[in-house]
Amino acid sequence: MVRYAHITGWGIAVPERVLSNEDLTEMVDTSDEWIQARTGILTRRIAAKEDTTATMGADACCTALTVANVKPPDVDLIIVATSSPEHIFPATACLIQDQIGAVNAGAFDLSAACTGFIYAINMAAQAIRTGAMDTVLVVGSETLSRFVDWSDRGTCILFGDGAGAFVLQGSDEPGGVLSAVMRSDGSGGDLLSLPAGGSKHPASSHTVSNGMHYIHMNGREVFRFATRVMASATETVIEEAGITLDDVDIIIPHQANRRILEAAARGLKVPMDRIAMNVDKFGNTSTASIPLATYEAIQDGRLHKDDHVVFVGFGAGLTWGALAIQWTGPFPTKKPIPMSRYRLLARIRSFLRRVWRRLEGLIWGRR
Ligand code: UT7
Repeated sequence: MVRYAHITGWGIAVPERVLSNEDLTEMVDTSDEWIQARTGILTRRIAAKEDTTATMGADACCTALTVANVKPPDVDLIIVATSSPEHIFPATACLIQDQIGAVNAGAFDLSAACTGFIYAINMAAQAIRTGAMDTVLVVGSETLSRFVDWSDRGTCILFGDGAGAFVLQGSDEPGGVLSAVMRSDGSGGDLLSLPAGGSKHPASSHTVSNGMHYIHMNGREVFRFATRVMASATETVIEEAGITLDDVDIIIPHQANRRILEAAARGLKVPMDRIAMNVDKFGNTSTASIPLATYEAIQDGRLHKDDHVVFVGFGAGLTWGALAIQWTGPFPTKKPIPMSRYRLLARIRSFLRRVWRRLEGLIWGRR
């Protein structure tokens, strides 16, 4: 029997603190006019000390599970796409698994920079189509503000923090993820990178004093690459889905820069009102940008059951990709899920497991 992967839940979490263009003029030599004209960004959100990639991701997951009416123990897999993981290891996905009490789920991080959310949805859909998995949480979560050099006006004006999550579920009903495009070009890896902290340049006083733990970007080259691939990936994915551009109700692109989105719209000959855009509010939130824009499109009544939607994005790697989706929404279910109770149970469970591991260590360590 053919299985289809449907998006049945969605959620977001954004930090409260808003950083305006005006605020940035006090930090670097820039202006509100320049930032608005060159990027379309007005504000971005900045994580508070207690907000992390995992805590925001977990909050977004809880909302998504509530929308889908799915219990955390029923999740089979958690894929976290992130460019700002909490650590090299353990995976941020495992931290989220623990925080939400997804006790039966596998969990891993996926590194494809801003294209990560698209890659992750495709991986989740493949796992569901094989019948190996039934319910997968896909998360895009970022605390990029911690990797930004706040004295570099070429990058600090762009990035923001936030998280989004989707629930994907299997069903015999046709629809859901129709087709996917995943591409990469490692020859452009140096155009957008975070050079230190990995095995090539482990943390040292040299890497720190040279600012190698910050985002480094050749903005002009990334811009040229982005405008080239956005339209072509969209055209390929809709062709593979067996639909035409006229069938697409809304295109939800990675929110990097208003001018990139306008160039993509021009390339596709699609009016801007069919393109979702909220880069003005949140800036570039990397893997979180597509779920944040999707959430807003749903809130604004721009996305309905059976609509055709295209997600398209690009990022460091270089990577780019697109998905064509027939929108589903929540499957009909019986009782609403008491998510706050599951979250509390998850905290208690996590605490008890840590205590038990300690006790076990003491008992077995003595033998
Ligand atoms: O998720 C993927 C992440 N990355 C991207 O999407 C980045 C894509 N690239 C971009 O969005 C744009 O290239 C930027 C917004 C980063 C820069 O805009 P641009 O129109 O490409 O500017 P530019 O780099 O060509 O620089 C033009 C001028 C330069 O001055 P000179 O050399 O012409 O005198 C820059 O020094 O603008 C200057 N500049 C600024 N001026 C005021 C660069 N940043 C700023 C700034 N405020 N923040």
